[in-house]
Amino acid sequence: MRVIIHENEKKIGTWLGDYIAACINEFNPTANKPFVLGLATGSSPITTYARLIEIHKEGRLSFEHIITFNMDEYVDLPQDHPESYYSFMWKHLFNHVNIKKENVHIPNGNAKDLTAECLAYEAAIQKAGGVHFFLGGIGVDGHLAFNEPGTSLSSRTHIQKLNYETRLVNSRFFNNDINQVPKEAMSVGVATVMDSKEVALIVTGHNKARALHKVVEGSVSQMWTASALQMHPSAMIVCDENACSELKVGTYRYFKEMES
Ligand code: GLP
Repeated sequence: MRVIIHENEKKIGTWLGDYIAACINEFNPTANKPFVLGLATGSSPITTYARLIEIHKEGRLSFEHIITFNMDEYVDLPQDHPESYYSFMWKHLFNHVNIKKENVHIPNGNAKDLTAECLAYEAAIQKAGGVHFFLGGIGVDGHLAFNEPGTSLSSRTHIQKLNYETRLVNSRFFNNDINQVPKEAMSVGVATVMDSKEVALIVTGHNKARALHKVVEGSVSQMWTASALQMHPSAMIVCDENACSELKVGTYRYFKEMES
C-alpha cells in the first residue's frame, strides 16, 4: 500500500485529480468499454472533484463513457435533502461534467425493499464489469464507506447502523444536532471496495490521525475497516501532513522517501 503525503488538501486534490484523469484517459473509455469509477462523499474528495471539473472544462477529460458507483447513502433521508449524498454528488461533481444521468449509481436509501436494493446494487457493479478505480475517504473511527468498526471485512452492500461517533461527527452537516442525523445508511461492503482494480483513500486533518495510524501501522482488523486496504494489490492512501501526526517518525520518513 502506497502512502502519499501532501502538504494540504488543495495539493491532494490537484495530484489525485490529475492521477484519476490520467487513469481514465489511458484506459480510453468508449461506449463498449466504459470506465467504472467508484466515488465518495464527505469533505475529503471535494478538492479532487474540483480538479476533475477543471480538467474537464479544459477539454482534457470526458465523462461520456464513465459509469459511476457511489459508496453509500443515508437511509430514509429524502433524495432532495441538501445533505443526501445524491445532492452532494450532483452539486460537487455531476452537474459540472458531461456524465449521462443513467450512468450514475447512488444507493437508494429510500427503497421500499432495502435488502433487495443492496443485492441489486452489488449486481449492478458486477454487470458493469467491476470498479476500475474506487476513490474514498475514511471516518475518524477508520470506517471505509460506512463500514463501521466490527463490520466484516468480507461484507457486501448492506444496511449499516451508524455509531454514535460517526453521527456526532456528521452532525456538523445537520445543524449540529445529532438527532437530525440518520441512524442508518446503505453502504457498499469492504469486500465490494476490495474487488476494485485500484483504490485511493483520502485522509486529512488532525482528527483522522489516530485512524491513519491504525490503518497504516496497525494490523488488518475489523475494528478499523479501512485497514483491509493493506491486503489490496493496488491501494494508496493520499494524506496531508496534519493526518500524519500519530505516525511514527520512521514510518513518516519511510513513505516520504519512497514517494520522492
Ligand atoms: C462519511 C462517509 C464516508 C467518508 C467519511 C469522511 O462517513 N460515509 O464515505 O469517507 O464521511 O468524511 P469527511 O471526508 O467529511 O471527513
